[in-house]
Amino acid sequence: MRILHTVGARPNFMKAAPVIEALGMRGHVQTIVHTGQHYASNMSDVFFQQLNIPQPDVNLAVGSGSHARQTADIMTRLEPVLLERKPDMVFVYGDVNSTLASSLVCAKLRIPLAHVEAGLRSFDRSMPEEINRLLTDQVSDMLFTPSGDANENLLREGVSQEKIFLVGNVMIDTLWKLLPQAQAHRPPDLPDRYALVTLHRPANVDDTDFIGNVVRTLGLWSKEIAIVFPVHPRTRQRFQEMGLAEGMNGNFHLLEPLPYLPFLALQQSAALVITDSGGVQEETTYLGVPCLTMRENTERPTTITVGSNTLIGRDMERLSEEIRKILSGQGKKGAIPPLWDGHAAERIAKSLCT
Ligand code: UD1
Repeated sequence: MRILHTVGARPNFMKAAPVIEALGMRGHVQTIVHTGQHYASNMSDVFFQQLNIPQPDVNLAVGSGSHARQTADIMTRLEPVLLERKPDMVFVYGDVNSTLASSLVCAKLRIPLAHVEAGLRSFDRSMPEEINRLLTDQVSDMLFTPSGDANENLLREGVSQEKIFLVGNVMIDTLWKLLPQAQAHRPPDLPDRYALVTLHRPANVDDTDFIGNVVRTLGLWSKEIAIVFPVHPRTRQRFQEMGLAEGMNGNFHLLEPLPYLPFLALQQSAALVITDSGGVQEETTYLGVPCLTMRENTERPTTITVGSNTLIGRDMERLSEEIRKILSGQGKKGAIPPLWDGHAAERIAKSLCT
């Protein structure tokens, strides 16, 4: 088959890598289109290198913009590529704007569409990713799900059973493969014991009260434990605008966004992780590292019911309470969910042949 993959933003890359490899092993002819949603080298190129993804055949170079602008630009630039290359099937990943934009173009051109990481729902439509997930799933022909809850969501929304394939978590395929190499890439000059923090969601970092409160709370805890914080470009901008970085003491280690392997090494050795990312909730679950998620809900409930994740919402007292618990050795360890075993992409490749 001629298969075209579209990827665009950082969390897409670790999901696409194992699928591209597994389909390549079965002799499918593949094209990779990068939408250019993430364009900075440390948000994109470095992931292609470390994950060993072939260089994109096409880069749509859309860059940043409002959601409408970004989505529309991807659509208009992708359409001629699909018309020219005529793939038998297009693969899209996750829930970013590149995912939805690509899906809509395929639906209109009647090109069969496969969605990897289908069926996840936060039930919170104020999240742009929830809209991307809902709409992508509605127009997909093959829906590859990471966990049973995703199948239930899709069936409830009227997606027919024959389109749904429970394959497990492809992001964990990448983790499983690269974990043995991770510690060799650990960033130098960091303390042994630390809390790892990542925050980038607009609903969090664009809320000046919230981000100020988080930094103040972490400031109090930094007397007991070092804070290691790789900072997303959006978050760095907010820190600058609010002058927040100046108030951080020497026990704060603000880093540039990290490549995959150093970040994985930091997750693996962290005493705890504080995040608002989707993928980090899953990676910490696999690693058995306690994770505190600064959101009211999650589209990845397995990380709570089975894994090491706890939802904190926006309550700073709750955050402190949970940090205290973890530092006193009572953190959640959890277990690894079924089918998070390093072989999800192989199951995807197999299901194409049946
Ligand atoms: C996107 C995804 C989010 C995912 C996140 C991971 C959507 C709706 N959101 O959010 O689900 O968790 O990626 O990082 O698709 N910027 C740079 N360099 C870059 C890319 C972005 O400086 O290479 C800056 C720009 O100022 C831009 C901002 O970051 O406006 C946000 O980028 P954007 O792609 O719009 O969304 P993310 O917040 O990264």
